[in-house]
Amino acid sequence: MAGTTSSVAPIARRLEDKVAIITGAANGIGEATARLFAKHGAKVVILDIEDERGLLVCKEIESIPNQTASYIHCDATNEAEVSDAVDRVVNDYGRLDIMYSNVGITGQHELRILDINYKNLKHVFETNVFSAFFAAKHASRVMIPNKRGAILFASSCNTEVHGAVPHTYCATKHAILGLTKNLATELGQHGIRVNAVAPFGVATRFLTSGYGGVTVEKAEEMVCHMANLKGVVLKAEDVAEAALYLVSDESKYVSGVNLLVDGGYSITNTTFGMYLKELYPY
Ligand SMILES: NC(=O)c1ccc[n+]([C@@H]2O[C@H](COP(=O)([O-])OP(=O)(O)OC[C@H]3O[C@@H](n4cnc5c(N)ncnc54)[C@H](O)[C@@H]3O)[C@@H](O)[C@H]2O)c1
Repeated sequence: MAGTTSSVAPIARRLEDKVAIITGAANGIGEATARLFAKHGAKVVILDIEDERGLLVCKEIESIPNQTASYIHCDATNEAEVSDAVDRVVNDYGRLDIMYSNVGITGQHELRILDINYKNLKHVFETNVFSAFFAAKHASRVMIPNKRGAILFASSCNTEVHGAVPHTYCATKHAILGLTKNLATELGQHGIRVNAVAPFGVATRFLTSGYGGVTVEKAEEMVCHMANLKGVVLKAEDVAEAALYLVSDESKYVSGVNLLVDGGYSITNTTFGMYLKELYPY
C-alpha cells in the first residue's frame, strides 16, 4: 500500500525443505537451475563429471545465507554411480523430492544419415537417454515408497520441429519425450509427476561449441536471428524458471508435459510466407 512501507517482501521460497538432484549442473542450464532451486530453499545436489566446476558452483551457492548445495562426482551414464549418488543423498538428507535429469550432448555434427557412425551414436544415446533412464530408475526407487516426487527431463524444441540438428541428437530427445509420457503413466499411480522441459537455443557451451566454437555473443546473435520471438534473448535462467515451475507444488497436477520454452518457434513455418513474398514483394 502506498506510503506504508518501503521494504520489499521476501520472495516465496517455492522449494523449501525439498531435496533436489540435478545431473549435469556444473555448467549451463543445470547450473542456473541449481542456483535457482537453492534460492527457493531446496537442498541441491549437483551430479557432474567436472569436479572443479561443480565444487565451485556449490561453494558460491553455499556462500549465500540459507542456501544449500553439495557436489557428487557422478558419470550419469554409469548406473552404479547414479545409484550410489542417490543412496548418498538419501543418507545425507533423509529424502529425495526432485530428480532433474539434465545431462545432454549433441555429439558429432552429423546432419546426413550417411555420416552416422556407431561410436558417436552409442555415446550420444548413452549420455542423453541411458542417463535419463538411470536417473529416473533410482529416483523412483526412493520416491515410490514415499508416494511423492517430481522427475524432470531435459528435452528440446527439436521434439517439435525438425531438420536443424543432428539426427542422433534429435532421436535421443524423442526418446526422452517417450520416456516422459510413458513414465508419467506408471508413476502417476504412485503420486509422482514426470515432465520435460524443451528449450530453444541457449548460448551455453553446448551451443557455442555446437556452432563451431563461437562466442556467447555470436551464439546469441545467431539464435535471435532464427528465433520467432524478437526483442528477448533466451537465457539458461529462463529455462531454470520453467524447471522450477515443473518441480514445485505450483504444478502439482501437471504431469506428462513437454514444456516448450521456445518463444513460439516450433509453431511457426515461414517457408510458405517467404515464397509468397518472393512472388509478390510488398
Ligand atoms: N543449450 C541449448 O541450446 C539447449 C537447447 C535444448 C535442449 N538443451 C538440453 O539441455 C540440457 C543442458 O544443456 P546445456 O546447454 O546446459 O549443456 P552444457 O554443455 O552447458 O552443460 C552440460 C553439463 O553436463 C555435464 N555432463 C556431460 N556429460 C556428463 C555425464 N556423462 N555425467 C555427468 N555430467 C555430464 C557437463 O560436464 C556439463 O556440466 C541438455 O540435455 C541439452 O540437450 C540445451
